[in-house]
Amino acid sequence: MFDSMSFRAAFSSVINSDFVYFDNAATAQKPDCMVKALSDYYGSALGSAGRGQNPLSEKASAAYAAARRSVMRFIGAAKPSEIIFTTGATDSLNMLAASYRRRLTKKSNIVISALEHNANYLPWKNACEEAGAELRIIELLADGSLDMDAARRLIDENTLLLSVTAASNLTGRLTDVRALCDMAHEAGAAAAVDASQYVPHIAPDVNVFDCDYLVFSAHKVYGPEGLGVLYCRESLLDTLAPFRYGGGMAEEHGGNIIPLPSPERFEAGTHHVAGAVAFAATLDFLSGFDAGEKLAYTRSLSDYVYSSLSAGRGINFIGHSRENLPVLSLTFEGVSPSDIDLMLSMRGFCLRSGKHCAFLPVSRLAAGGTLRISIAPYNTPDEAEKLVFAIAEAKEYLLRKKI
Ligand code: ALA
Repeated sequence: MFDSMSFRAAFSSVINSDFVYFDNAATAQKPDCMVKALSDYYGSALGSAGRGQNPLSEKASAAYAAARRSVMRFIGAAKPSEIIFTTGATDSLNMLAASYRRRLTKKSNIVISALEHNANYLPWKNACEEAGAELRIIELLADGSLDMDAARRLIDENTLLLSVTAASNLTGRLTDVRALCDMAHEAGAAAAVDASQYVPHIAPDVNVFDCDYLVFSAHKVYGPEGLGVLYCRESLLDTLAPFRYGGGMAEEHGGNIIPLPSPERFEAGTHHVAGAVAFAATLDFLSGFDAGEKLAYTRSLSDYVYSSLSAGRGINFIGHSRENLPVLSLTFEGVSPSDIDLMLSMRGFCLRSGKHCAFLPVSRLAAGGTLRISIAPYNTPDEAEKLVFAIAEAKEYLLRKKI
């Protein structure tokens, strides 16, 4: 069984906090081993990776390469060259969109879904607008799941790329990534997956998804800020143009500038070695826990919150399903989510309210925004109980004040 107390014990920032943290979908708290790895690197191992022959430079290069292999294993990739470090999922998707922008024509289309975070919407919207191409959106069914029949109709021979989330940041809804990737491939299109909300709960496997690209941010999976991943299937690496030009990404032969192979080709400039090394330490820490048990535990907290607040209290759970990841989005009859959020903040609860950088799903499911509760394995049943009580109390108080 998942030992939630030993997981929690690894997070001093949680144990020593005066706050109850339920904003994990925005960013996750950091385990002590991650903080130590950052500090150790800056304190005694700093060097310029890939930039020299001095001992510290070589040590940093080796650590950076080892971190890349850790990420490769984490997502089931075949080669280190398939892992491109970026500054985050938003950066990864912008890079991909910039590359696809060059290939888009007025005839072609990109397909995304109405569950996307803005990071997997606005770069494609912009690229399609610039190229005069069509951005197609797979709509939602009434329960907040994707309309897979619509997906089948929208993906066609003019689709260059399908780019879909593996899980919604608004509702925690999981998508059938494999089925969508298969549809894309059958139509001759490539398939990209935004796994940002998926990785904190389930290790993504690029072979199971059969995706061509996969992106996520380290900070959502207990890693450092400022580090992200763009996985690209090996056979497609040469089809991506460099995204950035500068030091470390090219060679010069007789006046000719020749881009290096991946990953150097895509990682111009000084690398975020500290972030990569610290993320490797995070992944190592996570490998000590069974992912399935971890998810069952967080789902049990999510079930508790849902069952405690859903019965006749004038509270709506948006796009909820027991199979979702432990992310709950609430609206309230007669009270705004941000007012509840404010009251809860004053009592030490950290949640998020509003549109959650997710214009597409919010406009379809809860135009006025929601209050989001996102649960991590360091949260406890006691915290969930206090949260339920505080939400119910805040709602009653705000309703009474209105009368
Ligand atoms: N993408 C983050 C969220 O969902 C910031 O809150």
